[in-house]
Amino acid sequence: MEWTSLNDLREAYLKFFESKGCLRHKSYPLIPQNDNSLLLIVAGMAPLKPYFTGQEVPPRTRMTTCQKCIRTGDIENVGKTARHGTYFEMLGNFSFGDYFKEEAISWAWEFCTEVLKLPVDRLYVSVYEEDDEAERIWHEKVGLPMDRIFRMGKEDNFWEAGVDGPCGPCSEIYFDRGEEYGCGKPGCTVGCDCDRYMEFWNLVFTQFERHEDGTYTPLAQKNIDTGMGLERLAAMMQGVDSIFDVDTVKAIRDHICEIAGCKYGEEYKKDVSIRVITDHIRAVTFLASDGVLPSNEGRGYVMRRLLRRAVRHGKLLGINGLFLKDIVKTVVDCNKCEYNELEEKYDYIVKVLTTEEQNFNKTIDRGMKILDEYIENMSSEGRKVLDGESCFKLSDTYGFPIDLTREILEEKCFEADEDGYAACVEKQRVTAREARGGSKYMGSDETVFHKIDKEFHTEFTGYEKLTDTAEIAFIATDDELVENAGAGDEVYIVSARTPFYAESGGQAGDKGTITTSSGKCRVLDVQKAVAGKFAHRVKVTEGGISVGQTAEFAVDKKTRLATMRNHSCAHLLQSALRQVLGDHVHQAGQLVDENRLRFDFSHFNAMTLEERLRVEMLVNKYILSALDITVREMPIAEAQKLGAMALFGEKYGDVVRVVSMGDEEENASIEFCGGTHLDNTSKIGLFKIISESSVASGVRRIEAVTGTGVLELFNENDRLIHHASEILKLANPMELLKRCTAVMHDIRELERERDALQSEISSLRTKSLFDNAADVGGIKVITAMFTGIKPDMLRKMGDEIKASRSDIFAVIAGVDGEKANFLAVAGKDAVAKGAHAGRIVGKIAAVTGGKGGGRPDSAMAGIGDRFKIDEALDKTIEIVGEFVK
Ligand code: ALA
Repeated sequence: MEWTSLNDLREAYLKFFESKGCLRHKSYPLIPQNDNSLLLIVAGMAPLKPYFTGQEVPPRTRMTTCQKCIRTGDIENVGKTARHGTYFEMLGNFSFGDYFKEEAISWAWEFCTEVLKLPVDRLYVSVYEEDDEAERIWHEKVGLPMDRIFRMGKEDNFWEAGVDGPCGPCSEIYFDRGEEYGCGKPGCTVGCDCDRYMEFWNLVFTQFERHEDGTYTPLAQKNIDTGMGLERLAAMMQGVDSIFDVDTVKAIRDHICEIAGCKYGEEYKKDVSIRVITDHIRAVTFLASDGVLPSNEGRGYVMRRLLRRAVRHGKLLGINGLFLKDIVKTVVDCNKCEYNELEEKYDYIVKVLTTEEQNFNKTIDRGMKILDEYIENMSSEGRKVLDGESCFKLSDTYGFPIDLTREILEEKCFEADEDGYAACVEKQRVTAREARGGSKYMGSDETVFHKIDKEFHTEFTGYEKLTDTAEIAFIATDDELVENAGAGDEVYIVSARTPFYAESGGQAGDKGTITTSSGKCRVLDVQKAVAGKFAHRVKVTEGGISVGQTAEFAVDKKTRLATMRNHSCAHLLQSALRQVLGDHVHQAGQLVDENRLRFDFSHFNAMTLEERLRVEMLVNKYILSALDITVREMPIAEAQKLGAMALFGEKYGDVVRVVSMGDEEENASIEFCGGTHLDNTSKIGLFKIISESSVASGVRRIEAVTGTGVLELFNENDRLIHHASEILKLANPMELLKRCTAVMHDIRELERERDALQSEISSLRTKSLFDNAADVGGIKVITAMFTGIKPDMLRKMGDEIKASRSDIFAVIAGVDGEKANFLAVAGKDAVAKGAHAGRIVGKIAAVTGGKGGGRPDSAMAGIGDRFKIDEALDKTIEIVGEFVK
């Protein structure tokens, strides 16, 4: 076996399967497309699901990929062992109703023995216990002796994931790493739990479809799905113990050790941290490059967790300050030959990761403060265990990791309520699953449009024209295909051609009408249904329509034009934002329709007023320069050479559509885009930003208007000014500012007068209280109730009372609208004699069903039942008596 680098192994594999006629495809993004059953891509086959089920036609019936994957099921074990990881690459070759077992098996063997040159006597295989065919091929065709073929049960050799979808028996190939890796127990052989026989290649014969009720039916086409972990293969070929010793992974590991000033393999605890960082930094770098941003839900949460875990283990290694950005460099260097996006987006990736790292450092500081408070409370109450809910709150609400909580508690001789914590986690998991709506692992949800022949496509003719004639090929309700629809019905129309734009790339679907000789429909929306079919959602407004009728498809020109103004302007906006804010700005989402332009982009601070104005000026400058807008189709490589902006995580074909604005002299924007555009920037009219806000960590949103939208905005503002002038009885709106300033000044004056009066009144009330004071063991006890008194005024009264005599103890009930509180205060001598305001007020409040407490000299408590205030105050003397020594 020859030592081979990970990058060379990938290339050798893909080349080999290309030579077998497979279409080589770049790794799909980690974000599943049109598939909400998965958070992240977990296997090479995951992005290809519709090809397996036959829902969509693949570009070729045999394909090969090296797919980026993330599996987080075992995240707790990552680091603890050298086996576990979250990020990995999966080599795969796939057949969609093309080759089957015979080729899949013999090609795998050929690759193992002739390309990798693995020693034959160290290879073993397993087959599904009922799969005679696979056994026969291994034995008769490949020539493997029977004692190297193991039959195994469903648990090991039947591949399925989730409750439904394509699945099938599989055959796995094992490599004997040698006795030194074995457990030495008698009977240690293929299938043993130890490290000796390593399973490295899984061939799945995807021939069944599993249904939710647990039954299986044969698939119309027989498929092949294979998976081989690239890092695992590399470990084998490089003769090393684990994936953390593989060349490209080790480089990262070494860099971490260098920064931390430690050595790998010397101390178990440190090794754990080094492995966690090594694995997680790879995962988050690739997640960032595919456009995932850390957040509190979905895949953003996965990313946040991985990233924070890495940072946390950096701290355990004693690394001070921000360190992720340094290691990212190594990740990029080791992987850029296959994933050029890493290099292109390098600055952006660093920015995303570092921002989160900084935020997390702040989170840790804040969490420490809260935990300190918890610990203080536990000490004073004599508790030793921090309840599960508090642990969960720390981690869930404040992002403070549970392992950190555990560790700090342990250090101070406390512990966490693990069961209580686990219960909270489980509760949240169930809620999250319910919110996600069941797990359909395979295949996107079946819709009525899946009933239409998958070869049927809709040709979009709306780049050139706004009206077109076509036959109504299908009419559908939400669940079935129908022949006719009558006035009042809301149905979908599918045709072989249409000038209507279907919502995509953030541009809304067109509106308009579809008319036949017998009826008319209003088009409400247009969506891309499965596999290139456009579904026009319509309401039949006159007569009726039928399948087979010729129809006039007419897009509403006014709304389309308004939409195009917003879309073309969004391109200028992205360009302006990059010039004003920097190259880290990338489109993170957009929505353009006839009314507005909403543009989300990566940026890490709120924009300053000056930045906003500069962006607005620049966009308007481009508009007023009347730049030509041109659209060209070209090979993707050529578009990249021109520097056209692409979207993150978007899969593009070989030929792309490129929209440019301007010329050599004034090159305003160039982007990959499938949307519809104006032919000149001047037609945008004018551009005005309405707001700039935050949508998620690292993502900002601009809402803006163009064209007549700007005019409407002006009119609206005009109306506002006039209305305000009317209320203030101004003849001339120009006086508005002066009058507002004067009115605000008057209000402040009046407020000051009111406060002075109130304080005088409360002083008078306080003084009269002392006349009725009772004596409890040398303490003067007074009680009172006031209505219409705000909590801060109540506190002020308390302070006055407390300051007036050192032997005073007072309880005052203050009621004001929604708020009702008891305040208790105790003078210095009263406190010394045992009258603890915090404890006493708690007991008094309890009479009304309320709660509270606080310091010995001053404390507040909420009032429960207001009808029990008198009863509670009457108990004051008795309760104070209990406390006084
Ligand atoms: N889909 C199969 C796996 O993930 C090949 O193992």
